[in-house]
Amino acid sequence: MINKKIILAVTGSISAYKAAELIRLLKKRGADVQVIMTKSAREFISPLTLQGLSGKPVLDNMWEPSKGNGMEHINQSRKSDLILVAPASANFIAKLAQGLADDLVSNVCLARNCPILIAPSMNKSMWENPATQRNIELITKDGIAISGPENGEQACGEEGMGRLINEKMLLLDINKSLNFPILKNKNILISCGATFEKIDDARAITNLSSGKMGLSIADEAYALGAKVTLIYGRTEKVPPSGLNCIYAPSHSLMNKYIKENAKNNDIFISVAAISDFIPNNFSGKLTKKSTGLTLELQPSTDILLETASEFNDLFCVGFAAESKNIIKNAQAKLKNKKLKMIVANCINESMGQNSAEIYMIDKNEVIHVPKKTKEELALTILKHINKLENKRGITHEHIN
Ligand SMILES: Cc1cc2nc3c(=O)[nH]c(=O)nc-3n(C[C@H](O)[C@H](O)[C@H](O)COP(=O)(O)O)c2cc1C
Repeated sequence: MINKKIILAVTGSISAYKAAELIRLLKKRGADVQVIMTKSAREFISPLTLQGLSGKPVLDNMWEPSKGNGMEHINQSRKSDLILVAPASANFIAKLAQGLADDLVSNVCLARNCPILIAPSMNKSMWENPATQRNIELITKDGIAISGPENGEQACGEEGMGRLINEKMLLLDINKSLNFPILKNKNILISCGATFEKIDDARAITNLSSGKMGLSIADEAYALGAKVTLIYGRTEKVPPSGLNCIYAPSHSLMNKYIKENAKNNDIFISVAAISDFIPNNFSGKLTKKSTGLTLELQPSTDILLETASEFNDLFCVGFAAESKNIIKNAQAKLKNKKLKMIVANCINESMGQNSAEIYMIDKNEVIHVPKKTKEELALTILKHINKLENKRGITHEHIN
């Protein structure tokens, strides 16, 4: 979002106060935020608060002669990368659907020449009302992107659909609206996080994977327009609710869900650190002994190898965290597991860390990517996968 110009349009919903935190999050990510608001929105939050947080005067009146050339209702979107209506009231959605323009916010939206994303927020009966649903259908057909709403407890005390989408998912949708959707029409399956295997009814073995790399890839793939399915084990952060996620905290569940979903996807990016060994099953609790305890572990199956062998059309990408001979070991895995690409890194410098240095390896080349944050790496990796996968499409076309 760095240097992106975002018009944040706040309308008259009870969740208008959440716009304050949203401005802070957008600015933290480097966006330049111009707030505009409806007359009703002023009843819910003071323009002064929004002005203080955005660092710019809030615009809410198109009849004010002192501003610029007096054409703010047209000028605003000309200078912007995105109009974000958050929260979007039922009334405002109806106005958007009909092309009404009777205040500054509705004029800016109607006269826009940049993308628009709306985040509805209202009582569940207002949301479920056929009129609102009809309006949502209309604006979707007009190419307006919609984030949420979500289900849950409402300000009025009722429970249901209509809450403003959670901020993590809203930020992903904002990124999606700002990005060129290079992964549109691609179905991407991603596994991430650590698995854990029970030793007895109270204990388990796991590994040090934080899930950060896989979660960053899932977020970025979604923001680049892909349809993402995320199979996740134990992770330091929870994936945003709204992404298509399946919790799979053991080898057997990873195996089940990856294989069930493999056939419906074009690309599989296997980032999960899945147990290579599984303890023998013990029911009950092992008793504490001063002599120590010897655990017997059985080797588990290699899910990535099996998936790549079984689903020939799936573009399979692996991750190799190595402690020595990084490139050589990763190249051997690329070949043995029949992968299209492998991302290699040094285990001590990447596992659990926020950044890493990686090598992107396929059968033709090794590309070194110097140390970057995992969010930045996710973008680099996805762009490279997309390039290789598109080349594969061209090869298929030539053969046919
Ligand atoms: C206390 C209160 C809370 C409201 N909350 C919402 C809401 O969450 N969502 C909504 O769509 N309308 C809500 N409304 C109704 C809108 O504020 C009303 O339709 C208004 O005309 C919207 O104006 P605007 O779309 O120009 O901002 C609420 C009204 C009141 C009095």
